[in-house]
Amino acid sequence: MALTIFVPKETEAGEPRVAASPETVKKLAGLGASVTVEKGAGEASAIPDALFEAAGAAIGKPSDAAKADVILKVRRPSANEIKIYKSGAAVIAIQDPYGADEALAAMAKAGLSAFSMELMPRITRAQVMDVLSSQANLAGYRAVVDAAEEYGRVLPMMMTAAGTVPAARIFIMGAGVAGLQAIATARRMGAVVTATDVRPAAKEQVASLGAKFVAVEDEEFKAAETAGGYAKEMSKEYQVKQAALVADHIAKQDIVITTALIPGRPAPRLVTADMVKSMKPGSILVDLAVERGGNVEGAVAGKVVDKDGVKIIGHANVAGRVAASASLLYAKNLLAFLETLISKETKGLSINRDDDLVKATLLTHGGEIVHPNFAKAAEAPAKKTKGEG
Ligand code: NAI
Repeated sequence: MALTIFVPKETEAGEPRVAASPETVKKLAGLGASVTVEKGAGEASAIPDALFEAAGAAIGKPSDAAKADVILKVRRPSANEIKIYKSGAAVIAIQDPYGADEALAAMAKAGLSAFSMELMPRITRAQVMDVLSSQANLAGYRAVVDAAEEYGRVLPMMMTAAGTVPAARIFIMGAGVAGLQAIATARRMGAVVTATDVRPAAKEQVASLGAKFVAVEDEEFKAAETAGGYAKEMSKEYQVKQAALVADHIAKQDIVITTALIPGRPAPRLVTADMVKSMKPGSILVDLAVERGGNVEGAVAGKVVDKDGVKIIGHANVAGRVAASASLLYAKNLLAFLETLISKETKGLSINRDDDLVKATLLTHGGEIVHPNFAKAAEAPAKKTKGEG
């Protein structure tokens, strides 16, 4: 029987994105799947129901999820949503699984095959499925736009008859996907850009975008990248050296954008309250890591905080602030992954547990938490709480 796919309207507050686009619906219909999109699911991403319908989807209601073999979502489903899904259904979403033991247990219990898109390995085959990159890239762009909006001055140097306005100095902390896009955007807008990171590979990338690299380049720095390309948590000693170096630099900046993350860990604290205090009135900080603990002391998720004339921008879900672009790319990421789960012969769902992509992303399956990183936590919760205090 043909695969039945359901795309809900996201229920979490402040989530305007949607997990399908007319383009991906058309592609899925072409693969023989029957796709139902919940009424209004694409509205906040500028995709009206009519466009989904024209692409071959039926427009439905939340309870239609009960028939679906596959649910495509942006966020992890709520307890109420899980109740609707049938046992054996695949739920593909950004599951945010760290520290979500209870939710994972609920998905396992419901018999769902929950896939966590953000655990996709960073290998060539999976680049097209990399939701962290597709969304972080947009967040990096939007961070500069948000900073420019709050900044009471202009970014580029302007030489006018009435005098010269200097270019804004922008410092980007964390030069991964979001940071590199922030550098490129800030440069396009005419700012003077510097950037820092703890991974040596970032140095060249920063320079190639025309920004100056500022970092403590000691032995620890030279070994700071994991095989997966991510940063390691740095030692206390390194953090002290890093803080001393950036403290001076931050005092001279007009805008600081922080993007530093460590997978599965709280975000590193890079900007202290004293550093914020050292900035001139009218300066701006944007903390893209605010939802993961924050890089900037005093940043509040979902708020713009004013600290003696310095604004700390802590917008949540920054990719969602360019939802129409974010949804199109996210939908494409999901389609590319889902295609690997559809059997060419039967056109039904076929989960190959030996596939590296499945191994890396499958959280729950057949009633159990199957992902090695989370199965252990589920087995020994008492021990974990004791050990980590
Ligand atoms: P991320 O979102 O986990 O972290 C953002 C940045 O913060 C990283 O560059 C990280 O090194 C940096 N950071 C962490 N701790 C820091 C600290 N204490 N001080 C300063 N910076 C700190 O990383 P993201 O954006 O996901 O990218 C990580 C790397 O993976 C990048 O080199 C990126 O280009 C690469 N990548 C590779 C892909 C592939 O091969 N398919 C796809 C996407 C990214």
